Amino acid sequence: MADLSSRNPDWWRQAVIYQVYPRSFADADGDGLGDLRGITGRLPHLAALGVDALWLSPFYPSELADGGYDVADHRDVDPRLGTLDDFDAMAAEAHRLGLKVIVDIVPNHTSRLHPWFQEALLAGPGSAARDRYVFRPGRGEHGELPPSDWRSVFGGSAWHRVPDGEWYLHLFAPEQPDLNWAHDEVRADFRTTLRFWSDRGVDGFRVDVAHALVKDLAEPLRDVAQFGATGEQALERVPPGTHPYWDRDEVHEIFRDWRKIFDAYSPPRTAVAEAWVPGARRALYARPDELGQAFNFEYLQTAWDADALRGAITGALATARAAGASATWVLSNHDVVRHASRLMLPPGTDENAWLLSGGRAPEIDASHSLRRARAATLLMLALPGSSYVYQGEELGLPEAADLPVGVLQDPVWEQTGRARKGRDGCRVPLPWTADGPSYGFGSGGAWLPQPEWFGSYAVETQAGTAGSTLELYRTALRLRRKLLEGESLTWAADAPFGVLHFARSEGWRCVTNVSHAPVPLPPGEVLLASVPLPLDGTLPPDTTVWLGA
Ligand code: NOJ
Repeated sequence: MADLSSRNPDWWRQAVIYQVYPRSFADADGDGLGDLRGITGRLPHLAALGVDALWLSPFYPSELADGGYDVADHRDVDPRLGTLDDFDAMAAEAHRLGLKVIVDIVPNHTSRLHPWFQEALLAGPGSAARDRYVFRPGRGEHGELPPSDWRSVFGGSAWHRVPDGEWYLHLFAPEQPDLNWAHDEVRADFRTTLRFWSDRGVDGFRVDVAHALVKDLAEPLRDVAQFGATGEQALERVPPGTHPYWDRDEVHEIFRDWRKIFDAYSPPRTAVAEAWVPGARRALYARPDELGQAFNFEYLQTAWDADALRGAITGALATARAAGASATWVLSNHDVVRHASRLMLPPGTDENAWLLSGGRAPEIDASHSLRRARAATLLMLALPGSSYVYQGEELGLPEAADLPVGVLQDPVWEQTGRARKGRDGCRVPLPWTADGPSYGFGSGGAWLPQPEWFGSYAVETQAGTAGSTLELYRTALRLRRKLLEGESLTWAADAPFGVLHFARSEGWRCVTNVSHAPVPLPPGEVLLASVPLPLDGTLPPDTTVWLGA
């Protein structure tokens, strides 16, 4: 049985971490926005689910220009979400229930409302205050053009002009000015932030856009057009580590510095990098003297195809092992289409076009898609390493693809000139009860409208219901705790075409039928199956089974 107690400094290596998107989890004060007391009240759900930790997306003061990833104060709680006392109460209750607490740290940018940025705006060009951010004069005769062609991830130029004529860099929304990590005060302030939360008993950190912190600010700034591509595509065109703003080699110094802080605590604080970079480069962030883990998004981006999945799994395990890290697996989070919908989209589907069609082109068969999602989940939970589970996936929640555009909150929608619908469809407040106002989310409605079918996915509807997705997750997590030991797997040599079959070092096996036809079920005691198995000795398509040794 895996030791996940705080005595074990390696508890995180094979943990299941549940992502809470605080504004959409549970609303205790009835203002339509989820809050910390709402989370505390619902912690028994996480304990009963059997996860090891919860990771909270940002709950810091914010104008919510980017769902809280625009942080105005890294060491406080948004008053709409509660107070520091509420945070302490939440963390204490989580710990009492045996759950670790991981918080999101957003070091690449602040909110434009952060006191430093306000000071920078007032202080004017050339001031020391501006040097904490990336301000530059523009190009062109009157400085009317952006200082470089760098692109915002959310669309358009990454530069915004202020009234005195200077421009500042924002790799995301204009409300999220990028910090200058060459500045000592910036580095010192984040050390203080890491200690602040660690001292409050936080067990680990999820590091937002870890690969963006360091920019090449040598003059003249280098345009990315010279690489023959713009935006993130340019990353693949340059020698690794040399792109002007993504994944630069120098960023690793920062994380080596942070590791010293993490290791000063007992047990050491954990960290996971969000870094959308290819495998071998991603592993660098996960080295033991840096963050320890990095999200593996290649698995999430892999189509429902046996060869592709096997390749993604093998690759991720190898890169994690080479770095001395444990592997990570993610199927859903607050930035992507929920996997209960995504995995049914035919390969090559333009997800944005699908969202713009309200989820109608193509139409997805909800029960088939849930079946596939359950198979994918049991496959993920059988893999060596940590699984990151996103709130609502334990309910089999599909994407709310038909949100009317008038309610959209994601800055991506406006910043792309209403071309990309954005990520709101996976952020709709959770259904806790089958009916009632906002399906038990809170008494004051929900900040994004919940579809009328939400009640059928509610926690209340599924808890204790044999065969429900919630019960499947609960059983899987309970079993997983008992089964986990080593961090390796061995592929079966005789798996039929379209089937993933591997044994864990402990001897139990996971078999997933990714093909379109039933295959013979390999011998062994069935420990768990993603759907009830037929009696004819076959494993149907879109089904995963765990078999005893
Ligand atoms: C990654 C976060 O997951 C995403 O939600 C956010 O918009 C960007 N980083 C910017 O902070």
